[in-house]
Amino acid sequence: MANAAKGLIVAIDGPSGAGKSTVTKLLADRLGYIYVDTGAMFRAVALAAKRAGISIDDEAALIRFCQGIDIAFARNNGCCRVVVNGEDVSEAIRTPEISLLTSKISARKPVRDFLLLRQREMGRKGGVVLEGRDIGTVVFPDADVKFFLSASAEERGRRRFQELKAKGEDVSLERTIAEVAERDEQDLRREHAPLRRADDAVDIDSTGLSVEEVLNRMERIIRDRLKAKG
Ligand code: DC
Repeated sequence: MANAAKGLIVAIDGPSGAGKSTVTKLLADRLGYIYVDTGAMFRAVALAAKRAGISIDDEAALIRFCQGIDIAFARNNGCCRVVVNGEDVSEAIRTPEISLLTSKISARKPVRDFLLLRQREMGRKGGVVLEGRDIGTVVFPDADVKFFLSASAEERGRRRFQELKAKGEDVSLERTIAEVAERDEQDLRREHAPLRRADDAVDIDSTGLSVEEVLNRMERIIRDRLKAKG
């Protein structure tokens, strides 16, 4: 799809905790591509809506609200800060409460429509790696390379638990695994853009693989695609 000289559009989809963020960031660095964390965009909307007291059931209010929200990514200390209307919300969007609210708000059509436009705008020039749930199916169905990154629910719950613990959150392992499963359910069952593997995606199961191994597999496939495009 994208011009090879400018770089490819790479889509990485999969359920929460499969390692998408870690891998996507590092992959973008290796390739010298832009990194777009679409989950962070949904999280930013959820946080901002909560602060503004917008009900996720009020479609008209959500539409109006989205029109006034500015989401940007900024590089600081190596990577990827999420900035909403000028405020750095990178940490505030990662709490368990915002994770659950995001899962709900991301099922709302006005929110998906709004972010779809922003995501296409960010990726259309190529030289970009986007991670999310519907990048290869909805946002960029013609992406040059698509990956579907998964791992077992227990493994994903364990990884999330360790992440949250490291940040000093007071969480239990059982609860974290249950929340991962709950979010999977919501993401799979929703009407608009549910989590679905694109038919032409390359499957990578990261259970038992190191980050390096996942990265190497992806990079090899992308470099082959770049060569094929001449
Ligand atoms: O990848 P993440 O955990 O930061 O995603 C947060 C939530 O946003 C998750 O419940 C799924 C949803 N999401 C989505 O619906 N579509 C995307 N492209 C990315 C994330």
